[in-house]
This record gives sequence, structure tokens and C-alpha cells, in this order.
Amino acid sequence: MNAPSLHGLSLNTPSYVKHPKLIAWVADMVALCKPAQVVWCDGSDAEYQRLCEQLEQAGTFKRLNPAKRPNSFLACSDPSDVARVEDRTFICSEKAEDAGPTNNWKAPAEMRATLQPLFDGCMAGRTMYVVPFSMGPLGSPIAHIGIELSDSAYVAVNMKLMTRMGRAVFDVLGTDGEFVPCVHTVGAPLAAGEKDQTSWPCNPTTKYIVHYPETREIWSYGSGYGGNALLGKKCFALRIASTMGKQQGWLAEHMLILGVTNPQGKKYHVAAAFPSACGKTNFAMLIPPKGFEGWKVTTIGDDIAWIKPRADGRLYAINPEAGYFGVAPGTNSLTNPNCMDSLHRDVIFTNVALTDDGDVWWEGMGDAPAHAIDWQGKEWTPQIAKETGAKAAHPNARFTVAATNNPALDSAWDDPAGVPIDAFIFGGRRSTTVPLVTEARNWTEGVYMAATMGSETTAAAFGAQGVVRRDPFAMLPFAGYNMSDYFQHWLDLGAKLQASGAKLPGIFCVNWFRKDANGKFVWPGFGENMRVLQWMIGRLEGQAQGQEHAIGVTPRFEDLHWTGLDFTAEQYQTVTSIDKAAWKDELALHEDLFKQLAHHLPTELIKTKAAIERRLAA
Ligand code: GTP
Ligand code: SPV
Ligand code: MN
Repeated sequence: MNAPSLHGLSLNTPSYVKHPKLIAWVADMVALCKPAQVVWCDGSDAEYQRLCEQLEQAGTFKRLNPAKRPNSFLACSDPSDVARVEDRTFICSEKAEDAGPTNNWKAPAEMRATLQPLFDGCMAGRTMYVVPFSMGPLGSPIAHIGIELSDSAYVAVNMKLMTRMGRAVFDVLGTDGEFVPCVHTVGAPLAAGEKDQTSWPCNPTTKYIVHYPETREIWSYGSGYGGNALLGKKCFALRIASTMGKQQGWLAEHMLILGVTNPQGKKYHVAAAFPSACGKTNFAMLIPPKGFEGWKVTTIGDDIAWIKPRADGRLYAINPEAGYFGVAPGTNSLTNPNCMDSLHRDVIFTNVALTDDGDVWWEGMGDAPAHAIDWQGKEWTPQIAKETGAKAAHPNARFTVAATNNPALDSAWDDPAGVPIDAFIFGGRRSTTVPLVTEARNWTEGVYMAATMGSETTAAAFGAQGVVRRDPFAMLPFAGYNMSDYFQHWLDLGAKLQASGAKLPGIFCVNWFRKDANGKFVWPGFGENMRVLQWMIGRLEGQAQGQEHAIGVTPRFEDLHWTGLDFTAEQYQTVTSIDKAAWKDELALHEDLFKQLAHHLPTELIKTKAAIERRLAA
């Protein structure tokens, strides 16, 4: 093929790329970003190894002790670049009301004018990687393709683990297939002859994570971290995909997907939305505790679900991703053995501590090492931690690992048909007020619960932590369009399924995080969450009992299966009680949210709120 060239720079287009529009776009982006060279990723293992070695030489990667963690690396980021930047994330729809009051909005023309000079020459002195990826099984009718252009080799290798990345994507695209163009730069151009002064180039002051939903484009500037930079994840699979789902009648959700099989061999599928760092990976990998012999939980996905209705009136879910970018701190072999078993080899760790024997450590992993190098490259000992409060790992430290490393991976995880969803779970991190579990009496009440969900903020996003904020459907930072229209979309979908005569999935709201007067979690959580999951399945089957109250239905102590756990009725009371005064305050926060979202807010939700208020007052 006749490769176009710019200013003497070859595009290096491989002969197997036969998509003129794609090639023209890459040429345009090369002309704009002015990289020193262009490398097209083929997704091969050899390429992965080569890029990892390159990252090692650049000092970005430290190879871990091969005897302890074969083929694994540690990357430590710039301290200014450790999490998603929600205040720098923009939805640039033509109309402000289509982004809605919960998103940062700028008119596309204005944003393009802002970004143009930033992207002009932004990759100078660096390599532009052309990263082709499929969200969902390659060639599946529900999958969608993206091409990320990035000047970060760290991004390229992470995309290899997180998505179906490589040459086969071009075969699927053919000469005119559709793809979402994603442009990413760390925003740190090098002058002629200049060498990086840092192993984590980024722009410490200027960051933009920009989405144009109408033209389905993603432009990311200034950050190399996580969801800011791995554009297949939040930017594509949630923000852009949610707008596609709205138009086409499906859902893109911040949900894990799990399979749960009972001792009789009957299998159910559950999708659960918890905000960032609130337990999705953990729940998706749950190991049933003592007292649940014969039960099995398997992982389909740990962060994102694409959910489509089928002619049988049921909803089928796929995991568009192929790997996990999971929270390290707090993960250990007691709370999440499946996760720890996933991390023995072929892992990229980011912002954890390096031990003296070339392994990794983080807070909550187990016994602290006597000495380590912390995520900022400083000496760390338990004594230093005690005196200064220094963390060995950043609270949003992460691991990147292919799904195939997970011993609990569901056999259908890669099935293009997806799995039928029996129940949705919504859960936040709430020290008070919200009970352990509540069942919605109907779809509308479930949508109301999800829409008004609150959660304490975590280290997954830059900014204040531990503050309760409304996080509707755990999608506050990820809905690519107006939140009220999003609620309506959920209500419409429910009505459509109901009209087809199908049984709708159950909807449940959970809270693993209620605390006692000493600030300690009361509910043991993790594997013990199985007890709640079993109750939900019992409800779906019309077998389990519960107590109806103002907000929904919650099991009484005697309605849960307690074999294998010492948990008293008094303790149970502290995680399930409904404090009417606290709920009045909670409803006032719902009212604030509804005021903010008044434009297009579905009237069913306003009616549901009034009904709850009546029941609370009764
Ligand atoms: P993102 O990847 O940011 O979307 O997060 P996630 O929802 O997958 O969160 P993850 O499962 O990684 O959990 C984050 C933190 O919550 C970890 O520190 C866990 O140890 C903790 N956690 C998870 N499940 C439970 C639970 O049942 N109880 C308690 N107390 N903590 C939990
Ligand atoms: C989240 O913050 O919800 C994540 C991590 O899953 S990131 O990919 O950085 O968005
Ligand atoms: Mn997430």
C-alpha cells in the first residue's frame, strides 16, 4: 500500500490496514500532534515484551522479582497524576441540556478551539502508538471498535491487558468499518534533543478529558493514569457507549457481572453498580463462606456491563473489557483470595510499594515489610508510617491484569451472546442510614433507589474523600448525557420489557459499609456478602421472607442463613435499622438532587418520592 507521509515522517501503515478513512485520520493526527515516529500496535506477545522492556529502560517500569512475580512490573506515577480528574472531564454535546447539570459542558466549537493549540505538537519527540481495540468479543454484533492514538507506551501495554487489542481489529474493520477515534497525549512534548527528566511524563497543570458524544470522539490531554488515559474504559465503554445505548435502546453501566450457582445447579446472573472503589471487583470474585457449601460465584466482569434487551424480553449483559484495572489497597488473601490468585504473574502494578526482595506491598495486604520503597520512591518503614502517616501505596494504587488470570472466571465471560440478568444491585458506601439490603417492590421503585443513591467519595477520583454525594446508578462521573434522560431511559426500558410479558429483573439496594459508634464496619462484608446474595435469589424465587417498610423490603434477622458466622441479632439491628429522622434528612438530599435535575426529571420518580414520604410520616 502507498503509505502517505507527512513532513518526511512515514506513517508506517501496515499493509493489512485497508481502511482509507482511518489512515487519513491517523495522518491528520500525526500532522497535528507531530510525533517523532508512528508505531502501529499488532497486539502480539512479542510486542508486549518489547514495549515493557522499553518502559524498563525509560525507568517507567521496574521489573519485579521473576521468582516471585514472573513477567510483572511496577510503575509509579507522578504525584500529580494518581486518579481520574472529574473536574477536568467534559461532555461536549451541541446543547448544554444534553450533557445535563451533572456533567461539565462546553460547546464543541469552543472546546475544539481550546484543544487545538494544546494538541498542536503535543507528541513532539515522542512515539505515537496506534492502538486498535475491540470492546466486547472481536467481531461480535454487540462489540464496538476504537482506535486510540497515544504517546504513552504504558497506555499501549495496559490496553493489551484490558481490551481485545491488536491486528485482528483491522480485519473486523475492513475497508469502511466504524470505529471511535480516541486521541490521548500525556501533554509533555519534548524539544529537539531533549530527554525526559521524569519516568512518568504528564502535564501537572493542564488536563482535559473530552468527549464529543454526537461525533463519538474522545480527546484526552495531560494525564497518563487509569480512566483518564485508557480510553476504552470510562471514556468509551461508559460515556460514549451510554449515549449510543440511549439512541439504540440498550444500557452501558458501571456494573460488575457475576454468575451464582446454587447447590442444585441452578445458575443466576446478577449485575451490580457500586461507585468507584466501593467493592465491584471484590463482589465479582466472591468466594462463598462457611455454611454455603455447594454454592459457586463466577466472574463475567468487574467494572462495566453492556446490557441489551432481546426478543425473549430479557436483558443480556456482556463485559466489554478483557482485563481488570483493580484497586490494590485493602485486597488480601482473606478478603479476596481469587483476586490475589489472579496477581501471581503477568501483572502491571501502579503506585504500590516495592519490597526489598523485588515484590510489591500495599496497605491491607497483610504483614508489613520491615522496609520498602513507597510509591513516591521514598524510604518506607512501619515506623516512618507511624510517625508521618506516609502510605506505602497510594490509596488509588491499581493492578492491571488480564481476565484470563482470574481462577473464578465464568465460562461465558467471552460469549458474544452475553448472560441473562436476573437481578440488579445498587450499593453505596454509607456509614449510616442505608440498610444492609433493601428490595425494591417494583421497577420504578428500583430506579428511584438507584437514582437517589448516595456514597462517600473515595480515592478513585481526585478531590475530597469521605464526603457523601449523590451518585445516581454509580454513574455520576460516567453518564455521557443528561442524567434525567438517563433515568427516563431506564424507566422506558422497564416498561418495554414489561409490555413483552417478561419477568423483569429484581432490583436491590445494598450497603456493606455501616459503622458503629467507634467508626468500625459492623458487617463483615466480602465473602459474607453471599448471605445477602442468597436472600436476593430466594426473593426472586418467591421463597425468602422479608419485612416491608417505608423504603422497600429488608430481611429480618431470621430471614438470612447464618450458619458459619457469629453475628448477633443486635449487630444485625445496627446494620438494618431504619432511623426515621435520618431518612427525613436523606429525603431532603433526594429533594436537592431532584431540584438540580428538574429539567426532564421523570414524574414517576417524583411520585415515588411522595409515596416514600407518606409512608415515613405514617
Ligand atoms: P473501581 O475499580 O474503582 O470501579 O472499584 P470497585 O468497585 O471494583 O472496588 P473494589 O472491589 O476494588 O474495592 C475497593 C475497596 O473496597 C477495597 O479496599 C476493598 O477492600 C473494599 N471492599 C470491597 N468489598 C468490601 C466489603 O464487602 N466490605 C468492606 N468493608 N470493604 C470492602
Ligand atoms: C473507577 O474509578 O471507577 C475505575 C478506575 O474503575 S478508572 O479506570 O481509573 O476509572
Ligand atoms: Mn470503575
